[in-house]
Amino acid sequence: MADTIIIPGEYRNLKQLEPARLHVDGKEYELPVVEGTEGERAIDITNLRKASGHVTLDAGYQNTGSCTSNITYIDGEKGILRYRGIPIEQLAERASFVETAYLLVHGKLPNRAEMRKFRNLLTQHSMIHEDMLTFFHGLPREAHPMAILSSMVNSLSIYYPEVASTGGEGNGEELDIAVARLISKVRTIAAFSYKKSIGEPFVYPTNYTYCANFLHMMFSSPIQKYKLNHVVIRALNLLLILHADHEQNCSTSTVRLVGSSKVNLYASICAGICALWGPLHGGANQKVIETLEYIRDNNIPVKKYIEMVKDKDKPQRLMGFGHRVYRNYDPRAKIIKKTCTEVLEHMKSDDPLLDIALELEEIALHDQYFIDRKLYPNVDFYSGIIYKAIGIPTNMFTVMFAIGRLPGWIAQWKEMHDSAPFKIGRPRQIYNGPLIRDYVPIDERE
Ligand code: SDX
Repeated sequence: MADTIIIPGEYRNLKQLEPARLHVDGKEYELPVVEGTEGERAIDITNLRKASGHVTLDAGYQNTGSCTSNITYIDGEKGILRYRGIPIEQLAERASFVETAYLLVHGKLPNRAEMRKFRNLLTQHSMIHEDMLTFFHGLPREAHPMAILSSMVNSLSIYYPEVASTGGEGNGEELDIAVARLISKVRTIAAFSYKKSIGEPFVYPTNYTYCANFLHMMFSSPIQKYKLNHVVIRALNLLLILHADHEQNCSTSTVRLVGSSKVNLYASICAGICALWGPLHGGANQKVIETLEYIRDNNIPVKKYIEMVKDKDKPQRLMGFGHRVYRNYDPRAKIIKKTCTEVLEHMKSDDPLLDIALELEEIALHDQYFIDRKLYPNVDFYSGIIYKAIGIPTNMFTVMFAIGRLPGWIAQWKEMHDSAPFKIGRPRQIYNGPLIRDYVPIDERE
């Protein structure tokens, strides 16, 4: 056997374990194996191609780590989710969304002075530039709020060029303002897109707390001020906290990949919003409600719908079920399900959609198809029922997901920039197309 070729790795800051050995093309290679603080293990293949001429193939990156991160830990088998080490159950129970946003971006919970400063920045930067209102006037009323949000967020770099010029090299103060500005303004843009869709005048932000201000901008009008309701405000804080980060999901990986070209924060976040819009990702919450309404409006027995989902010849999927990482109940779904009942009881609303959702879950969790594939309710299965009870229209559900996820996207983007010098993201491929051939003039083609 030829000598072992040692391939040096990149992740020296992680615990090093017994190296892995790879036999390929009659040679033996030794690859570093590293371990994170929660015992997750990886083979460091940073220099595999240089040493062996081979790349790895991994459709959908199901087995590929793109980075190390200190932000969020998920254990899919045990249904664990922690932000900067704090269990999601504790944050959901005791924190506010603004506190959680600060925790994700800065790595620690804010003390009173930091909380006051962050809150003031959020209030100070809650308006959008008056010129941006003309964008809304040019849009059709039926414009999807996610299309509005992504284009408005990207446009922010026009009005705040100081962020546009940096690929994250801004100093602490500048970045704090850019972060607060973005977290605050997406809430205003979302509310304005709703007002636009119902033909009502925009309601400007005021000096309420984060969620109360959103509800005010959404549901107050020149005739009547929205009556703030502590149960609704608490439920909204909880939903935003539960959506705030989720390690390297599709949209967060998009923010990192786009951000790795050193484009500004707003353009990177715009890319994340677009990725989140897809029905397999953040767009699922809208699809869940549409599915429940379809079942209700067509009087389809729930058992029959489950059979349609299992039939491979039919297009139906049980939206809000299944997850790439959770092979157990999504801890966020558990918390949202409990809050659903509390909010509906408080609002004295007996939404039949909740009964349909509960029946779908009950049947699916005892059905071999779902059991074999480890398909459980995920964060999107019950969230729409609460949004609906609050009065938020279905086509804004994914916007609510984006408002919640924004601090996580920012934290992940910032973590990548703080780890500079970082490499631009550029996956490889295995070419499987035609071999070399000549150009054929059009008259000689079949
Ligand atoms: C989010 O990654 C994250 O962290 C995302 C997220 C976050 O916070 O950022 O948690 C947010 O996006 C939650 C997921 C929301 N999407 C949905 O609810 C859409 C419905 N779910 C699926 O489309 C699916 O479960 C995914 C996309 C979530 C995960 O897909 P995978 O891991 O690629 O799994 P797969 O498509 O390979 O499915 C494996 C099997 C297949 O059956 P077989 O081919 O083995 O027979 O499970 C089946 C699938 O057909 N399956 C489903 C199903 N999900 C998977 N069958 C019916 N209904 C479903 N929902």
